[in-house]
Amino acid sequence: MKLSDQQLAQFDREGLLLLPDLFSLQEIEVMRARLPKLFAEDNPANIREKKSKEVRTAMGLHLRDEVFSKLVRHPRLLEPAMQILDPPLYVQQVKVNVKAAFCGEPWHWHYDFATHRYEDGVPKPLALNLHVFLDEVTEFNGPLYFIPGSHKAKTPSATLDTVSTSYPLWVVRPETVTSLAKNRGIVSATGRAGTGLIFGDVMLHASPSNISPFDRRIFSLIVNPVSNALTRHQRPDHNHHRDLSPITPIDDGCLLN
Ligand code: SIN
Ligand code: MN
Repeated sequence: MKLSDQQLAQFDREGLLLLPDLFSLQEIEVMRARLPKLFAEDNPANIREKKSKEVRTAMGLHLRDEVFSKLVRHPRLLEPAMQILDPPLYVQQVKVNVKAAFCGEPWHWHYDFATHRYEDGVPKPLALNLHVFLDEVTEFNGPLYFIPGSHKAKTPSATLDTVSTSYPLWVVRPETVTSLAKNRGIVSATGRAGTGLIFGDVMLHASPSNISPFDRRIFSLIVNPVSNALTRHQRPDHNHHRDLSPITPIDDGCLLN
């Protein structure tokens, strides 16, 4: 699947791109069916909410499950990434971020490159985050918020927050978020299950808690050019994979075969 020139221009201008109906409901069902078993595993790659102990993030999924092993090579994710970045690309991180109904906690304002730079020694903010909505994402169940065009602003400083949530995060100061949002506004990324979403490494984003009765599960694949690989190995492999083997797209029908 190739992005049009118009989609590429929109991605460059706004820093995010929504792709409605990227995957069919039948394909989404195949992905969803894998989650209960994966979430039930006693595995350090399953990170739980501080209070409720529900899974917040399940990582390393392409090494734990054959459906997700295919999904990281899916042409509907990889071909757009290969248009935007210079291949060869490697799989940096693979996860499902859950916001369980009634108890999914927030992610505070951040951009991913702060973590990739300070924790993993990644040289440049090139990595792309490729999402697939596994549930319908609405204004109610904790959608991602973005400040469009924030990837074009001077990259803000970030500080490590190890207290607010169960997942340490390099966050951006509220004053910086306010001044960027005043000029550019905020959008939420919503859509039906099967929607795709692409955003880059210096895009400012966050997400609120989910007090709705509806789960919000989003698959996320981060890819990075091999030429921009990590230089520090302090985090567990599931946070940033060491295997720099180039990934290439497989058959478009792979999830249903
Ligand atoms: C993230 O920023 O990595 C996660 C945000 C979310 O899933 O809500
Ligand atoms: Mn993030």
